[in-house]
Amino acid sequence: MTLHFALSSATPESADTACLIVGLFQGGTLTPSAARVDAASGGAISRIVASGDASGKPGSSTLLFGLAGVTAPRVLVVGLGEATKFDAGSFHRVAHDSARALKNLPIDGALSTLAEVAVTDRDLPWKLRSLALAADAQAYRYTATFKPKDGPEPRRLASLTLAAANDDANRAALAQATAIANGVRFARELGNLPPNICNPAWIAAQARKLADTHAGVTLNVLERDDMARLGMGSLLGVAQGSANPPKLVVLQWNGGGSAKPYALVGKGITFDTGGISLKPGAGMEEMKFDMCGAAGVLGAFLSVVELQLPLNLVCVVPAVENMPDGNAYRPSDILTSLSGLTIEVLNTDAEGRLILCDALTYTAQTFDPQVILDAATLTGACVVALGKHASGLMTSDDELAEQLLAAGTRTHDRAWRLPLWDDYQSQLDSGFADVANIGGKYAGAITAGCFLSRFTGGRRWAHLDIAGTAWEEGRKGLATGRPVPLLVQYLIDRCA
Ligand code: BES
Ligand code: MN
Ligand code: ZN
Repeated sequence: MTLHFALSSATPESADTACLIVGLFQGGTLTPSAARVDAASGGAISRIVASGDASGKPGSSTLLFGLAGVTAPRVLVVGLGEATKFDAGSFHRVAHDSARALKNLPIDGALSTLAEVAVTDRDLPWKLRSLALAADAQAYRYTATFKPKDGPEPRRLASLTLAAANDDANRAALAQATAIANGVRFARELGNLPPNICNPAWIAAQARKLADTHAGVTLNVLERDDMARLGMGSLLGVAQGSANPPKLVVLQWNGGGSAKPYALVGKGITFDTGGISLKPGAGMEEMKFDMCGAAGVLGAFLSVVELQLPLNLVCVVPAVENMPDGNAYRPSDILTSLSGLTIEVLNTDAEGRLILCDALTYTAQTFDPQVILDAATLTGACVVALGKHASGLMTSDDELAEQLLAAGTRTHDRAWRLPLWDDYQSQLDSGFADVANIGGKYAGAITAGCFLSRFTGGRRWAHLDIAGTAWEEGRKGLATGRPVPLLVQYLIDRCA
């Protein structure tokens, strides 16, 4: 369950909360609330600063219990780092640090005063929303496939109160936080589920649930036969090696009257073995996350519906499993895409672009969208280029690029632009078809983007390669829910 968020104007020292969160800069400067707690408690915080037990260093925090003169039984003193270097990025980090420090406490609520810390170019609603989203991200736990624990549930954080006026702007910030948190949670949970549960039919079922529980949402699911009738030979080529039939999920939100819709398209490979161009064994389990683009656009769609944004939105998800099998597609096969362009398969592991190209053509032809955005865990090359921090953004539309980069900065769900110059297109030349599905060893993220660009029907379009950002690495790495915050912010900004 997403945390419940509330606003409070209580004085910090007398606030009725299980844990009060205050800030301390490196060098010993206290935030206003920390100073009040310090005064009320006869210098409890000053003493731990003087003794060196609290440094104010970034990432540090100290938990104090039972301070005299303070109502809250716990006070968490969070290190803010150097005051002169404090910026939006620091605020984001501190929001996560403070939430992480609450993780294993036996409390169901806390009160954070950290929105009082000044941040250049960021207003109070932004700070409230950031604190709320960080707290919810830290509170998320994956439990779906563990044996249920015996006995009573341990007490866990269920609500976060933020010290700020209960006014319209602040309430709107928390409504946005709740909607984005719900979208992020939806995406994380779908991403984390194993591929023997989260297969194409499961994704379609989640979309069905979403449509059934939200007024104004319509769903259409195209089956293999429907796709064959339309001529989606590229998507169906990838799907033909799997016993799990493909689905093309189409959700629509009508909040904007007769305006042209925005369209989101997400790569939904529920497991990527590589197909006949089989991936090596080590790390292959991470390819259950290869549907995180789908999860991200579905999560963003959910947020938009919860916010009732006054725009039209369509969300198209090709959901397919990439398996090697007696019937699987093979390197050198030629597929005929919905667009009519033929594609020479040179590597069956470059499957994402093969399902996306038909989904993009379908989206452009069916909905006449004003903008198409796709999100996909498309290339390992993007992870090599940008690491785990930035999603790769590719578009030939400079204005769209600026808007998406700005949305990513604002939500700290950041993207970095890679060029999509025509110079790269010839890497996709084929001797046997209109286009090859791989572009050779250089610029793999870009040539994947170039491939997709050929199927966008000349629309305003941008591609987000989230291969590095959609999940955290390692055996316990979880889906992050990115790029839900970026996408939702972009759409919120279009309504302003
Ligand atoms: N899903 C993978 C991309 C990927 C790899 C994401 C590792 C995250 C981590 C995609 O389908 C793929 O296999 N891409 C190939 C493309 C290549 C064959 C041109 C890749 O990146 O190696
Ligand atoms: Mn692949
Ligand atoms: Zn893949």
